[in-house]
Amino acid sequence: MKKIIKGGRVATAADAFEADILIDNGKIVQIGRNLSEDGAETIDATGKYVLPGGIDPHTHLDMPFNNTVTDDDWKSGTIAAAFGGTTTILDFCLTAGEEKLSAAIEKWHDKAKGKSAIDYGFHLMIGDLTPETEAELPQILEQEGITSVKVFMAYAKEFQASDRTLFKAFKIAKDLGALVMVHCENGSVIDELVEEARRAGHKEPIYHALTRPAELEGEATKRAIELAHIAGAKLYVVHVTCKEAVDEIITAREKGYDVYGETCPPYLTLDQSALAQPGFEGAKYVWSPPLRPKYHQEHLWNALKAKQLQTIGSDQCSFSFKGKKQLGLNDFSKIPNGGPFIEDRFSILYSEGVAKGRITIHEFVDMISTSAAKIFGLFPQKGTIAIGSDADIVIFDPEAKRQISAKTHHMNVDYNPYEGWEVTGEPISVLVRGEYVIKNKEFVGVLGSGQYIKRPLKAVAAEALKI
Ligand code: URP
Ligand code: ZN
Ligand code: ZN
Ligand code: ZN
Repeated sequence: MKKIIKGGRVATAADAFEADILIDNGKIVQIGRNLSEDGAETIDATGKYVLPGGIDPHTHLDMPFNNTVTDDDWKSGTIAAAFGGTTTILDFCLTAGEEKLSAAIEKWHDKAKGKSAIDYGFHLMIGDLTPETEAELPQILEQEGITSVKVFMAYAKEFQASDRTLFKAFKIAKDLGALVMVHCENGSVIDELVEEARRAGHKEPIYHALTRPAELEGEATKRAIELAHIAGAKLYVVHVTCKEAVDEIITAREKGYDVYGETCPPYLTLDQSALAQPGFEGAKYVWSPPLRPKYHQEHLWNALKAKQLQTIGSDQCSFSFKGKKQLGLNDFSKIPNGGPFIEDRFSILYSEGVAKGRITIHEFVDMISTSAAKIFGLFPQKGTIAIGSDADIVIFDPEAKRQISAKTHHMNVDYNPYEGWEVTGEPISVLVRGEYVIKNKEFVGVLGSGQYIKRPLKAVAAEALKI
């Protein structure tokens, strides 16, 4: 059935204009003034923005981590994402040791199957490569339409890969036209600092931040940049939190290196003092890299504004406070790392960014959707409003005021790091490929209707270079 969105203000990364949008067969087929409504279901968007659906390039749903598993799975996670204005996520498929990559991918497909309410793709995380996984990697990326490989320089006891594996990953990615995403922190030194703090008897959540200094993020970022450069490869730095890392990225980009950077809502809006709250409250704010002292925020905003950082990921990795965070009640190093942000990523960036005058609506669309689509090979199928693109659309009320609370959010956790925050702007209706997932703030989607999106490797090379 055709749909027509009437009377809204369409905003993309480049333009804003009043227009109607005609949708047929899941695609945008016409954009223009006073389009005929003949036989189409009308969606009234008067007074609203009509925006491309959010693309969240960084989620961890149903992921085993830190001796437990995240509380949001593909059902609650994608429903919450949709309420928040996100229509596509890219989730990290974990692999481990000797396990065949194909088996890991199958496992991840099974997690999503029948559950995802929105479209999705995978990044492939790799630990240390074995000869077998190294041989399998190119074929798996090609076959599965995966354009991005993730390597961790942190989590010494779980995911950390050697510099040698990281370098090999860059080489392989370069040959294929893929992109390596790196968690840049010096995991080995952090491990030592954590042991030192534990030996000294420190137990409180704030020691999570104190044992992961910004210098070790800056140092790892610089190392990743140089390894990528020597390999002739592109680099995407995930969850950049601090001036030290931003400075390295800017220096590299000024030298003409293909380096891209992502930051996340909490690093722009919350600071390290949250971890120092009494009564274990600080555990709600434990993720990695940690929150930093407040002055880092302006460096992140400025870098976003200057397009030195391009994307906003949620780094959704949720653990309930009364449940799983308690694993670290007597030992800060056992608090599962991660927070619930998949739902509020879009609203926080709009409210703190556009409504407060820090960024324009175009910059917002670019950061929340378009740049991720380009960098990860989804563009122009997704990430914009254009003829021929998927009708992934958010009808957004820029005036609405809303209070964030765990009582009303849709994530499967008992707290929200933004509890009580008043935000400006709210997604009213959300369409994925022309079908309502959220209609007038109600979930009307179908679990399992989200499609796995294969991405062409070569497209990444071409599109990403334009950023
Ligand atoms: O603390 C975090 N960020 N948890 C998720 C894993 C990661 O490092 O991205
Ligand atoms: Zn990470
Ligand atoms: Zn320092
Ligand atoms: Zn993450």
